[in-house]
Amino acid sequence: MKSKLVLTMLALQVVFCAWAQRVRPAIKPDANIEKQVKEQLSKMSLDDKVGQMCEITIDAITDFSKAKTGFALSAAQTDTVLGKYRVGSILNVPLSVAQTPKVWRTLISELNRKSMSVNGIPQVYGVDQIHGATYTMGATFFPQPIVQAASFNKNIPFRVAEVSAYESRACLIPWVYAPVMDLGRNPNWPRMWESFGEDDYVNSVMAVQAVKGYQGPDPNHIDMNHVAVSIKHFMAYGVPVTGKDRTPSMVTERELKERYFEPFKHCVENGALTLMVNSASNNGMPFHANKKLLTDWLKEGLNWDGMIVTDWADINNLWSREHIAKDKKHAIAMAINAGIDMSMEPYSVEFCRLLKQAVNEGLVPMSRIDDAVSRILRFKYRVGLFDKKTWDKPEKIAKNYPDFASPKFAEEATRFAEEGEVLLKNEGGILPLKKGVRILVAGPNANTLRGLNGGWSYTWQGDKTDELVGDKYNSIYKALANKFGAANVSLAEGVRYKAGSDWEAEDASEIEKAVAAAGSSDVIVACVGENSYCETPGNFNSLILSENQRNLVKALAKTGKPVVLVLNGGRPRIINDIEPLSKAVVNVMLPGNYGGDALANLMAGDCNFSGKLPFTYPRTPSSLHTYDYKVSENQSTMAGNYNYDAKMDVQWPFGAGLSYTTFKYANLRVNKTSFDVNDELTVSVDVTNSGEKAGKEAVLLYFSDVVASLIPDNRSMCGFDKVDLQPGETKTVTMKVPARALGFVNSDMKWTLEEGEFLFHCGDQQVKLNCTKTAAWD
Ligand code: BGC
Repeated sequence: MKSKLVLTMLALQVVFCAWAQRVRPAIKPDANIEKQVKEQLSKMSLDDKVGQMCEITIDAITDFSKAKTGFALSAAQTDTVLGKYRVGSILNVPLSVAQTPKVWRTLISELNRKSMSVNGIPQVYGVDQIHGATYTMGATFFPQPIVQAASFNKNIPFRVAEVSAYESRACLIPWVYAPVMDLGRNPNWPRMWESFGEDDYVNSVMAVQAVKGYQGPDPNHIDMNHVAVSIKHFMAYGVPVTGKDRTPSMVTERELKERYFEPFKHCVENGALTLMVNSASNNGMPFHANKKLLTDWLKEGLNWDGMIVTDWADINNLWSREHIAKDKKHAIAMAINAGIDMSMEPYSVEFCRLLKQAVNEGLVPMSRIDDAVSRILRFKYRVGLFDKKTWDKPEKIAKNYPDFASPKFAEEATRFAEEGEVLLKNEGGILPLKKGVRILVAGPNANTLRGLNGGWSYTWQGDKTDELVGDKYNSIYKALANKFGAANVSLAEGVRYKAGSDWEAEDASEIEKAVAAAGSSDVIVACVGENSYCETPGNFNSLILSENQRNLVKALAKTGKPVVLVLNGGRPRIINDIEPLSKAVVNVMLPGNYGGDALANLMAGDCNFSGKLPFTYPRTPSSLHTYDYKVSENQSTMAGNYNYDAKMDVQWPFGAGLSYTTFKYANLRVNKTSFDVNDELTVSVDVTNSGEKAGKEAVLLYFSDVVASLIPDNRSMCGFDKVDLQPGETKTVTMKVPARALGFVNSDMKWTLEEGEFLFHCGDQQVKLNCTKTAAWD
């Protein structure tokens, strides 16, 4: 009897725990905010409500007739948008170019005063800033996320976000569309550099750090040094089948859950307040109309009370591009019913009129409108906008940000670039370069800050960087001249990017001039790659580095002078014919305004390389792989008539990266030899600096599930850390791995951990352990 009672109690406890786990809110609601949201909602008319759900670009309320003398709002259009239509949010940078903090503060304060005077609800202003407050003149620009990921230093995305938040808030900007966690798994995709690379674990860890850095410790009360995030783009945006931006992906639901949902889930569980949706579609269903993913998985599944915003004009796209709705009204109803709360329209207030009509016709239930508006109001309370003190006296607030654009932040941006630039080849130890060496700096990326920063820098396309910043920051050439002496360093680009919007246009008329200049140098630093671009304009037709640039390197190599190849761009362009002509290769990707200085410090040996690739660098355009491939992708021959020629032949694997010193790994060990789903495993490894120079090592931990009911990935990452080691020094690196992290999503759409053998890999070390019991969970 007693044992029956105990069993019943245990069963009840299990049911209760499962229930409690399911309903535990991702963000614990604040009772006071909830009360205010309810009160506010009860006072609102349907016009007020649909207005809150609309987001309009600043261009729609700008007085362009005054643009020559600076930014000015159009009083009439502002009256229509914020007054008549009560629009709840404005986005984007005024006049499409970075503004001073003063212009920002005046603008946001004026907009809030206007919207408060209409119905007591402040508008919320949102901008794209993924590597600093990059729409603000003078702000600190950090390396782009792909470089932050290459550092494998968790503190870097945290600190980048923290400083970006501080400098944004100094402009009264309360909301940023960041971080990006799109898994850059297709190198053709022009937004690969906006993400933390190809791996979901790295994206999850880095994006959570970024969310914490942006939002600070309490998502219910974002303080005046922090901003709200919009994690994006939900989801699988980084794997378009064609490689072109905003085109369809074809990911199974199982893999969506296993790989692409994970970074979003972790960020939501760590307090992310808003989320932006992927513009494209998956298996025929646009994400903006996908109720299952937006409502069932995200809002209900994670019990998340945050707010979902569309991407640019994507409700329109449901009928005009995707043809799954017959007109705009039905597209609006479809998206709102799927779970969209705010529509980034962005030019027209027609949305408000049509949504109202859709509600009146019964196409959208009032309960859905109230839910969406509650989420928007909650967000505005959480970010502090109802408190006039956060925006009302802009110049008084300005004094609270003495560190804006400080040397301290610049120093950090330089250190972060040093940690993210990756040394991929160093034949005969040609790097570091000796003092006094004569250097020719060549290539279209030699003398441009546009190239170092990439897109989302001062402008959307990053195309005005050089003209806007003048000599304030150092290009690669200038940084090398500062470091090695102007008399020793000369510039002859050979190939140049043409000015203007076509980022691929090149002028290759001076290759011979560069070759001639090489005569009086000891070493050639050839800076090749890409000009800046962003989003769809970055689509191209070949992953191979441009012919002009490859011809330049070939011509320079013919001089017999050693070539150091510097790769500067947003994605890995194919270089298999010029890599063998180079003694050294450094991939700086997009390291930001201080990336040239960082490279000079590294090339001089004043600091050491420690970055590793957060993606697989392909060797040929038709052989694109990720490190977590299925084993069958890597079989060079098979018995019988067929040679499948499915060989992993990459230029550099995920995790590649050299240093001026060497590291030895020993004693990889786990605190258990067998485990089950409830365990947390403690994995340790001893890392020794076995070379002559101090250095940092990114320690990457992987696991393999040896036999599973679905073909297992070759290996998957489950931990990383970075250690600083003096020559001869050994440190033990310890990582905690919850057993659940070794699971996968099975064909019943359940997470599962199956019994059997597992391997951990770290450096050249490997250790076996055994899972004793199969388990499954949601
Ligand atoms: C991009 C988003 C961005 C939005 C607002 C869209 O075109 O896809 O990443 O946040 O514009 O600027």
